Amino acid sequence: MQKILVTGGCGYIGSHTIVDLIENGFDVISIDDNSRSTTYLTDGIEKITGKKLKNYKVDLKNFDETLAVFQENEDIMGVVHFAAYKSVSESVEMPLDYFENNLFSLINLLKCVKEFSVPYFVFSSSCTVYGNPDKIPVTEESPIKKAESPYGATKQMGEEIINEFSESYHYNSVLLRYFNPVGAHPSALIGELPLGKPQNLVPAITQTAIEKLPQLIVYGNDYDTRDGSCIRDYVHVCDIAHAHTLALQYLVEKKNITNCDVFNLGTGNGVTVLEAIKAFETVSGIKLNYKIGQRRSGDVVAIYANNDRAVKALGWQIKYDLPDMMRTAWAWELQVKKDEELMQKQNPVLN
Ligand code: WQD
Repeated sequence: MQKILVTGGCGYIGSHTIVDLIENGFDVISIDDNSRSTTYLTDGIEKITGKKLKNYKVDLKNFDETLAVFQENEDIMGVVHFAAYKSVSESVEMPLDYFENNLFSLINLLKCVKEFSVPYFVFSSSCTVYGNPDKIPVTEESPIKKAESPYGATKQMGEEIINEFSESYHYNSVLLRYFNPVGAHPSALIGELPLGKPQNLVPAITQTAIEKLPQLIVYGNDYDTRDGSCIRDYVHVCDIAHAHTLALQYLVEKKNITNCDVFNLGTGNGVTVLEAIKAFETVSGIKLNYKIGQRRSGDVVAIYANNDRAVKALGWQIKYDLPDMMRTAWAWELQVKKDEELMQKQNPVLN
């Protein structure tokens, strides 16, 4: 079986991608320092796939420890790199931590890829590289504008680094630009586990619905859109996960056009914040407690993808629609609550 190293494998998109890779016949190991994740999701991976994930609790900023993982696994034939800090607002407060963590990790990883001649590299990028686009839907040729945050800048620089690396050393990479990954695995055994108060819309919706949060604030309804709230391209995390498997297969089958092909991973449908809330209310039967608040600085007014290239070149097919996204996100939130209550019963002293 072909062995793939997934970095950030204990995280939201990493864990869903590992499930998809295993289900498509790959052998997978993970590097995750658990600085922003726990083993909760790896337990879920095992329940879904029957396979116990080998996770190396290593900080990718530590080159020697990262190299040791490659020395122990000389049969790694591909890397899927998720591990990074990803909060837009936090990156504004601590830009140097973001540049250090996200870029030093990537550079160390690429040094190991070169040292061990690992042929394939897939990078978790983001639509944030487009900034506030002049024209939507955005294609992969849409202009890369000034990043709206240090987080977005690390994704733009990361793409540049991988591009130059792949060209200079004739490696084969794929950059996947996610739009807004949401939802959870249909089993409700893995999903999004935001640390602290959720920044992103869908976990904020489900945590409000389950009364973990007192009320959802809609950050502005005075934008120039059909209902005044911002437009995004929400895409199910399982569709995003499967695109990584397709990207690896695309590289293995030498279908890539350049040393560093780029793909938009969005559904092509723009959805407003208020429409997303309505979709949640419809599938959950819950009237969501929200109010309209001030705009959030750095928010893009409207962005959604032209995904033709991923559909044609990768054979990517969107399987989940907006109701599925909300239904699986809600089922996951209910499951987490059940697990928390079970843990409380078993360890009352913890709370
Ligand atoms: C979506 C919309 C908010 C929370 C970011 C990163 C992107 C990717 C996904 C990593 C916006 C509104 C949100 C809330 C709200 N991250 N909102 N109330 O900002 O589009 O993208 O996360 O890869 O790179 O930039 O996602 O979910 O934070 O916001 O009204 O409590 O929901 O204003 O319009 P965003 P988001």
